[in-house]
Amino acid sequence: MEQYIIKGGKALHGEVSIGGAKNAALGILSAAIMTDETVTVENLPDISDIKVMLQAIEEIGAKVDRINEHSVRINGSKIDSMSIDYEFIRKIRASYYLLGALLGKYKKAQVALPGGCNIGSRPIDQHIKGFEALGASVKIEHGMIQAEAKELKGTHIYLDIASVGATINIMMAACLADGVTIIENSAKEPHVVDVANFLNSMGASIKGAGTDVIRIKGVKSLSGSEYAIIPDQIEAGTFMFAAAATKGDVLIKNVIPKHLEAITAKLIEIGVSVEEYDDAVRVTASDRLGHTNIKTLPYPGFPTDMQPQMAATLVTSEGTSIVTETMFENRLKYVDELARMGASIKVEGNSAIIVGVSGLTGAIVSAPDLRAGAALVIAGLVAEGFTIVEQVEFIERGYEHFERKMQGLGATMAKIDIEDEKAVQKFKLKVS
Ligand code: UD1
Repeated sequence: MEQYIIKGGKALHGEVSIGGAKNAALGILSAAIMTDETVTVENLPDISDIKVMLQAIEEIGAKVDRINEHSVRINGSKIDSMSIDYEFIRKIRASYYLLGALLGKYKKAQVALPGGCNIGSRPIDQHIKGFEALGASVKIEHGMIQAEAKELKGTHIYLDIASVGATINIMMAACLADGVTIIENSAKEPHVVDVANFLNSMGASIKGAGTDVIRIKGVKSLSGSEYAIIPDQIEAGTFMFAAAATKGDVLIKNVIPKHLEAITAKLIEIGVSVEEYDDAVRVTASDRLGHTNIKTLPYPGFPTDMQPQMAATLVTSEGTSIVTETMFENRLKYVDELARMGASIKVEGNSAIIVGVSGLTGAIVSAPDLRAGAALVIAGLVAEGFTIVEQVEFIERGYEHFERKMQGLGATMAKIDIEDEKAVQKFKLKVS
């Protein structure tokens, strides 16, 4: 098993380029099977979640040709199974997008019911409510969600929660329904807009994505397309926090600065300088940063996927900060790991209370989930001495070549097998 080993205490400097958005890509790859024509998707991130999604669609009969690590050609004309196994859902919950995609195209789909996950229990009642409103009958049997319809009919759906997953799933099915569907209280995240833009490029008629009312006029069929995925807002934000926490100076390229506004605003509030360009942001910090409070909210609020990285930055800022998680109940599991590195941080209810300390010290810590893992890497980059971050497979679900990108910014970080004492010694010698 490989781990990250980091020797902290060095400011990050230089330029880093951001890859395609994981969460948009998962929706787009599912939607790609909704046409019998060939679809080319570019700017895919080269991460394990994408590999799993490509395997899932291959498994049901789609033809998948990898053009290179960031592009793929998909043809869904020979799909011969409408059933997605637990094996895929267990690895990536977003395999449930195939429910909306298959139901829309074939009026029939069966996907294993996702259980809870590391960040908490995650109901899918709003997805089911949407499919039923479109005229599907939905049953849960033997751990599978089965959805079936004679025909899907456009309808009016009000989501009780502005769920990203439910909005995308319902939007996909509604594209091939008969008549107009209106989704009210829809999620407004950039990846919802990207999936809508992709579907429109295939001939769908979706208006209002990015607002809280989406209007979908059903079409008879979708056609082939060539599409490039938007940059990953969360990968960009992670590098912004890493630059700020290490008091560095980093140009983060290939971003859409508008998507980063909530993150930028908080960084500026704690004393970081953020310069915005057309498709880049430059983050610089020198003095000790200040404190703030954050509360995670749906877009355009502060993203839950950035909450741990923000906390890792605040643990060495001056004063008391409160980080409140409102979306997922288990998203503060990194708190004890940061405490092991010398942070003064404790959980009260769904908040982390942080009293800034002047520095952290390296320790062996374990990534509890994807974004919390990235936060521990940020803490390791700040800490004095060596930090080992275990369970990097969580981090690799969502970050492409994370250690290489960090190395490119001057970080002393490597991915090695820590059981391999020689490799550890070699790393320590190289950096001492
Ligand atoms: C997506 C993102 C995830 C991000 C989250 C919130 C993908 C693949 N994942 O997850 O990285 O953290 O948005 O921005 O895009 N809920 C219900 N019933 C439902 C659906 C959701 O109660 O049917 C609740 C959830 O428990 C949660 C909230 O709604 O508290 C938001 O969840 P949702 O927006 O659906 O998140 P995901 O799509 O799962």
